[in-house]
Amino acid sequence: MKCLRPITEICQRLCITVFQDKQRIKTAVWVVDPEQPDPQVMARAGSVIRGGGLVAFPTETVYGLGANALDANAVRGVFVAKGRPQDNPLIVHIGAVRDLEGVISEITPMAEKLIPLFWPGPLTLVLPRDPAIPAEVTAGLETVGVRMPAHPVALSLVRASGVPVAAPSANASGRPSPTHAGHVLTDLNGRIEAIIDAGPSALGVESTVLDVTGRYPVVLRPGGVTVEDIEAVLGVEVRVAGEQNEVPRSPGMKYRHYAPRADLLLVTGPPDAVRREILELAETDRGRRRVVVLARVESAGDYPGLEVVPCGRRDDPDDVAAGLYAALRQCDAAGADLILAEGVEVRGVGHAVMNRLRKAAKEIIRLGAEE
Ligand code: TXA
Ligand code: MG
Repeated sequence: MKCLRPITEICQRLCITVFQDKQRIKTAVWVVDPEQPDPQVMARAGSVIRGGGLVAFPTETVYGLGANALDANAVRGVFVAKGRPQDNPLIVHIGAVRDLEGVISEITPMAEKLIPLFWPGPLTLVLPRDPAIPAEVTAGLETVGVRMPAHPVALSLVRASGVPVAAPSANASGRPSPTHAGHVLTDLNGRIEAIIDAGPSALGVESTVLDVTGRYPVVLRPGGVTVEDIEAVLGVEVRVAGEQNEVPRSPGMKYRHYAPRADLLLVTGPPDAVRREILELAETDRGRRRVVVLARVESAGDYPGLEVVPCGRRDDPDDVAAGLYAALRQCDAAGADLILAEGVEVRGVGHAVMNRLRKAAKEIIRLGAEE
């Protein structure tokens, strides 16, 4: 026991040194066209990744923080830059289906059906890992999450790198995922080599994470591809992990995620009842805490005298998803202590939006069936 203390201290010091070194980096921002990024910029970004550096880049879901997935040191740097718990595995991004070789050790029949329909796109498949993928990427699991992104800049970066790219969302751990390059800069400036800025992410929520290693497909995280879409292709019922009380199957499920700094109170149910409840809750808090209402565009006028951050049109879950994380960050920027959030219709990508809001929420008030 005696010799343990100095060793722990040395490890801590090393960790702090790495962290401080990361803080001294000058982060470059490269602006590119989202459809036709400058090949020279992409080649430069690719060589930074290949050389062990960290580059944030746009995908169709959210911005990712890329590192060479074959380089354990580079991958450790991702965890340090984000302050991410080490037991939460990263998704590996590939530029072509043939690049699965060397990332996974076996393709399953379900994956074979899904890949031609959903790749490139916001579907991450959990498959048996190839030993070439370091344990740092998968947090020691025998499986690896892999996806081929649809954004031209993401594809171009992965191809220019010439290696599979491990990339979590490019936010500081626990903060809402970034959907603009500015969000990445707020969280990671000085900790990463570069950010490729190609404007806002179209989808606004992360990919669907689907485990296809077992007998049945299991959604570990709802996202851009809906459960209905997957069921239509596989012809079997898809289970959604976490909907029953069970042990977390995806390490990411156990963390309180996507959280703004303010407390978030989520109110679900018929729109009229939700509005009345939010008005009442705001009245109770008036003068004590700074309250911001996160509401649909159409109901922004229903909260007279209150500060409202509008997020998406009613009956349009895609629009709500696209603006969700920016709206949560806007609430923080407004200095909110309490966010009163309207629930969203649980349809299509609305599943993913409600999943994120529930995870961000300190408390959920259910007024009858969810919308
Ligand atoms: O849309 C996205 O998926 C974005 C962009 C950048 O591609 N990436 C992203 O990564 O959201 P991240 O690290 O923020 O979330 C990855 C999720 C975590 O919940 C993690 O636990 C889960 O995927 N995951 C990754 N590999 C896994 C594995 N082998 N088994 C189970 N869950 C896994
Ligand atoms: Mg994330």
